[in-house]
Amino acid sequence: MPAQTVYLNGQYLPVEQAQVSVMDRGFLLADGVYEVIPVYGGQPFRLTQHLQRLRNSLAGIRLDLDVSDSQWSDILNRLIADQDSTELSVYLQVTRGSAAKRDHGFPSEVSPTVFVMVNPIPPLDPKLAQQGIHAILLDDIRWQRCDIKAITLLANVLLRQQAHDLGAQEAILVRDNLALEGAASNLFVVDGSKLITPPKSRYVLPGITRDLVLELAPAAGLVATEQDIPAQSLPGYDEIWLTSSTKEIMPVTLLDDKVISKAKPGPVWQRMTQAYHDFKQTLGQDSCP
Ligand SMILES: Cc1ncc(COP(=O)(O)O)c(C=O)c1O
Repeated sequence: MPAQTVYLNGQYLPVEQAQVSVMDRGFLLADGVYEVIPVYGGQPFRLTQHLQRLRNSLAGIRLDLDVSDSQWSDILNRLIADQDSTELSVYLQVTRGSAAKRDHGFPSEVSPTVFVMVNPIPPLDPKLAQQGIHAILLDDIRWQRCDIKAITLLANVLLRQQAHDLGAQEAILVRDNLALEGAASNLFVVDGSKLITPPKSRYVLPGITRDLVLELAPAAGLVATEQDIPAQSLPGYDEIWLTSSTKEIMPVTLLDDKVISKAKPGPVWQRMTQAYHDFKQTLGQDSCP
């Protein structure tokens, strides 16, 4: 099997030859940001929105990077063309680069490290559609700029692992008694024909899937609102969903030890999932999905 090609600082290289200095601030300080972009039928999904969020994240950590959308597109398309599959996930990371010495303050002379790799997207587990997932509520121990998609993910890693240790697939994070989002997903609840998600803030990642679900809600017969969700109110809702680019819309059927939506994915989830898949089919017919 030919070695996977990745992009690193202007070069396309076999993954084994792509090397970064140990002085890179991504390695020493987790000083960087990233994006994960799904690819369906060989085409990046919601690329404009992902690249806008990348620019916002870069601005959030005061990192100047001069790469245009069409340059990003060229890089992604070249890596996608190298793959056998057309169902992929792009991982894109920008760090502040490597400096002569380790110091918290920004170095004066430094150029960013830009890395992109593309991998087959794991197919969604069919058990998900039949059974839904188990989520647990945990205290949100992250920092106060969760709107930045930073590579500084230790809190998310520990929270997700705590969920796994308890046999759950995801942690729903709670701050000041409000349920905000998952360790790597956004949160929705269903109340009759009302779809509710927490408003964007410093404590929530502005998810691309979240925005698309809000956009598709009216066509799926739902009234979408952005509203705080008290953690203790969660078990009372008809349905709970978690959304992300790689897992799409996951129905939660067990929250801690409480059964949600009669222990199976609910009818509103079915409708929204259908609307989401129909929208994905428009890729290729619509040049700007
Ligand atoms: C903390 C967090 N919230 C939400 C999301 C979902 O964002 P998106 O739909 O853009 O994948 C992610 C994705 O990884 C995430 O890490």
